[in-house]
Amino acid sequence: MGGTAVDADSLQIGYRNGRDAVTVLSDVDLSVPQGEFLTILGPSGCGKSTLLRVIANLLDPLGGRITVLGSTPEAARRARKTGFVFQDATLLPWRTVLKNIHLPAVVGGALSKDLPPGRIEDIMALLGLSGLENRYPSQISGGQRQRVAIARALVDEPEILLMDEPFGALDEFTRDRLNDELLSIWRDTGKTILFVTHSIEEAVYLGQRIMLLGANPGCILNTRDLRPIKSADNRCRREDPAIVAEIAAQRRMLAEAT
Ligand SMILES: Nc1ncnc2c1ncn2[C@@H]1O[C@H](COP(=O)(O)OP(=O)(O)OP(=O)(O)O)[C@@H](O)[C@H]1O
Ligand SMILES: [Mg+2]
Repeated sequence: MGGTAVDADSLQIGYRNGRDAVTVLSDVDLSVPQGEFLTILGPSGCGKSTLLRVIANLLDPLGGRITVLGSTPEAARRARKTGFVFQDATLLPWRTVLKNIHLPAVVGGALSKDLPPGRIEDIMALLGLSGLENRYPSQISGGQRQRVAIARALVDEPEILLMDEPFGALDEFTRDRLNDELLSIWRDTGKTILFVTHSIEEAVYLGQRIMLLGANPGCILNTRDLRPIKSADNRCRREDPAIVAEIAAQRRMLAEAT
């Protein structure tokens, strides 16, 4: 703790197509301290997923500088310091819940016997998945599939969790519950979380800071610190007037950005 999880300086990100490059986000200056819960809002197509991909080393930047826990994104990925929960729960339908959660250990080359005893069971209990070990993804609910995807991202004990609209497809009630579960995981583990969402309420409820991205050209529009309207451990009530006012302010800024 105490260091910087993600540090970006004049970062340019986008996609190469042969010799051409299409910039999605330019001049990204971002510093995320270790242990922070940062939420990211922005119109569809502005580059939120692309930014997470660069941090996770699934995509190389076009220019500028980025470090993840003080080293390159590639070194952080190889050391399994980053965990990714994708926009749709990408579970393998032919593997059981338990085997889906085991997947990073298998892909990463560590056999499951290398995991500390009880690790998978603990994570499953934490996410309320105990008893579902032998079901297939088609035999559990959408909310449970999202939890399996989160459990899978936690198996490696990554220091940074990159979450791309993980609860986007869920009903509001389930999403609220998973928001609270995620907050307690964050409080218990002290992980750094970068969380992309389309829900302004969710961004305000979860984040210690909110980063708002704009499109055409893609850029960081502003970053707001929510700590002054929350308790020291980031707790708040959804109906608190300061929280309601912040949601309204974010909605106005997002409307201007779209
Ligand atoms: N593999 C790719 N090759 C080229 N362009 C891409 C690729 N993936 C995404 N893009 C483009 O990059 C831009 C940013 O995409 P990105 O997926 O990061 O947006 P987003 O902010 O996550 O949007 P959403 O909220 O809809 O998920 C879009 O214009 C998209 O069309
Ligand atoms: Mg996206």
